[in-house]
Amino acid sequence: MADNYLEKRYAEINSGGGRTAYSNPSIDTLLARNRSVRGYRKDNVVKIQQLERIIAVNTKVASARNRQALRFRPVTQGPEADAILKSVVMGAGLPELHLPLPGTEPEAFILVASSAEEDQNLFIDLGISLQSMLLKAVSMGLNGLIIRAFNREGIEKALEIPKDMRLLCVLAIGKSGEKVDTVPVDSGMSLAYYRDAEGTHHVPKVKAEDLLF
Ligand SMILES: Cc1cc2nc3c(=O)[nH]c(=O)nc-3n(C[C@H](O)[C@H](O)[C@H](O)COP(=O)(O)O)c2cc1C
Repeated sequence: MADNYLEKRYAEINSGGGRTAYSNPSIDTLLARNRSVRGYRKDNVVKIQQLERIIAVNTKVASARNRQALRFRPVTQGPEADAILKSVVMGAGLPELHLPLPGTEPEAFILVASSAEEDQNLFIDLGISLQSMLLKAVSMGLNGLIIRAFNREGIEKALEIPKDMRLLCVLAIGKSGEKVDTVPVDSGMSLAYYRDAEGTHHVPKVKAEDLLF
């Protein structure tokens, strides 16, 4: 790379002992912090410019045949965000909690839509885009939630999505108000996420050695 980023990072990580001046968190740190969050702090209002910075990662990601057929709409606090919130399902794995808890609802969203044919490549592009945007959000001190359980018609109508476009996903963004961690489990164990008495959200993840075949 032109700015020798990788060489600099390698030198930082391998400098051994002494004080290491990390300018950025490592990819492992970003991934660890990138937990799905369903409860957000109201004292942090996400600005449209922050959502635009997150969306801008899409100028740097892979895309099948480099088609780049995904389009994005940032939505911040207001009637449009309220309409989205009414049309999404969060935490269906814990129905008794009726997430999000009152007072912790997300207020900022990125809608992802496309007018392209919905083939497998488009959905691979979608996954790459969503994860990239989430990692960018985490690098900015925010978190998010991929939401695919939503009332498509409700959002498309309320947000006046162009008729030739189809809404593919809703990404909630905000400052986390939750404690979330991962729990390594053997392949074949329950993968259902759960909350303990203190409200900490635990996400079972298949341990690395069990991912090999
Ligand atoms: C394609 C996809 C769709 C998802 N849809 C929803 C959703 O509609 N509502 C929700 O609360 N979480 C949704 N999630 C979040 C998952 O439940 C979450 O990724 C999973 O519980 C693991 O937690 P983690 O993201 O913290 O690792 C979705 C995640 C993915 C990748």
